[in-house]
Amino acid sequence: MAHPTHWKGKELPSVLRRLFEVPNGHTLAVAKQHGAYETISRTLFDKSQFELIELIKDSGLRGRGGAGFPTGMKWSFVPRGGKPVYLVINADEGEPGTFKDRLCLDKDPHLLIEGMIISGFALGVRTAYIYVRGEMLPMIRRLNVALREAYDAGMLGENIQGSGYSLDIYVHRGAGAYICGEETGLINSLEGFKGQPRLKPPFPAISGAFQCPTVVNNVETIMAVPYILKHGAKGYRQWGSEKSPGTKLFSISGDVKHPGVYEVPLAIPYMEFFEIAGGLEGELLGCIPGGSSAPVLTAEETQKATMDYESLASLKSMLGSGAVTPFNTTRDPALILESIARFYAHESCGQCTPCREGTGYVDRILRKVVRGQGRDGDIELIKDLADSYEWTTICAFAPGAAWPVQSFVTKFRKYFDTHIARNTKHTESRELEAVRPGAFW
Ligand SMILES: Cc1cc2nc3c(=O)[nH]c(=O)nc-3n(C[C@H](O)[C@H](O)[C@H](O)COP(=O)(O)O)c2cc1C
Ligand code: SF4
Repeated sequence: MAHPTHWKGKELPSVLRRLFEVPNGHTLAVAKQHGAYETISRTLFDKSQFELIELIKDSGLRGRGGAGFPTGMKWSFVPRGGKPVYLVINADEGEPGTFKDRLCLDKDPHLLIEGMIISGFALGVRTAYIYVRGEMLPMIRRLNVALREAYDAGMLGENIQGSGYSLDIYVHRGAGAYICGEETGLINSLEGFKGQPRLKPPFPAISGAFQCPTVVNNVETIMAVPYILKHGAKGYRQWGSEKSPGTKLFSISGDVKHPGVYEVPLAIPYMEFFEIAGGLEGELLGCIPGGSSAPVLTAEETQKATMDYESLASLKSMLGSGAVTPFNTTRDPALILESIARFYAHESCGQCTPCREGTGYVDRILRKVVRGQGRDGDIELIKDLADSYEWTTICAFAPGAAWPVQSFVTKFRKYFDTHIARNTKHTESRELEAVRPGAFW
């Protein structure tokens, strides 16, 4: 379905318009007709690095990779005048339900490159990387063609547009591990090591790739930068709220008529967003508001929530990567959680015992529960396990694996109890017994 241009008589924002409206916008010729690289040839080099960082700070842009950290503030942490500074674009996109970055790479790679030139200049970067999920092969090919076009047009390489500034960009293919989206796991993988997160501090802005200051930003974050340079902080702030300004891409799937990626202003109500996506299918039971890690909302909470960082924090959930998954009353939340738990058990990198073992146990117990082989106490047990790995590990994967467990079993408890009540014999399946250390039981 085409992206709607208007909603309730008002024009929808267009920070990323070429994504949705311009056929063949991935080619340099077409992208240029629609304004690509205008900032590089006109305004960029009139500004100082300091002015650019202040501009991004003033715009209130927040990272779109999940945590919503203020981008300008992250940039201002980078030490200057010592080691080389690297910029790394996180295009790993592994969160279940999130499929916006691949669209960006596919439809408008030149906007990402333009954003990287501006960001690279602001940060004093000479070499930048785009770390892309390995499975996104067509997007990687397109990105490489776009880079070649940008080099040939003098937008990359030595002395860009006679400015004296030089930038090289390399595409690095990952191998499809969710944990390589975590910024320090990503950096390890980029350096050729196992994609396992590092302890923080030091944060990458101080010591990241090759032990040098490194800014890791999401694709969508950097793609907002050209608009901000062109229209100013005020232009960007015309949408959203004071603390969550601008627009955001949301990937919506689940029980909605037109699943897909939409750009909408931040802080609109979730219920309004469902209408933009064609309306809900069936009666709403709950909604995962920001990717599989985000604590689930009940229907009542979803009806109150707006699509911004503060509203979701007040509901003890999060906007995350902007993956929205509403589900209706025909769905079984226990089955939804079982599928999420399987994902986290599979993707744990295995460095930390609570995460490696805990996610595995939760997965196996839940599988037993939804097969009608659960026992009294199983739900308390998985909740305890999730509590035990929530904040005891190296990286934020473990809390992200704990939150869906804690929220689903608390808010939709009766669905889990119904499965447990099916087990009248309280016997266990041999198959599952075989994969579980017996002493635990
Ligand atoms: C387990 C895990 C997976 C992540 N996956 C991604 C990802 O695929 N893409 C992404 O941009 N950020 C991901 N992040 C967040 C990154 O660590 C990092 O915060 C982000 O890339 C910073 O960019 P931003 O400030 O522009 O959001 C992940 C974090 C965790 C803990
Ligand atoms: S929390 Fe999990 S994913 Fe993160 S480092 Fe530890 S074992 Fe690996």
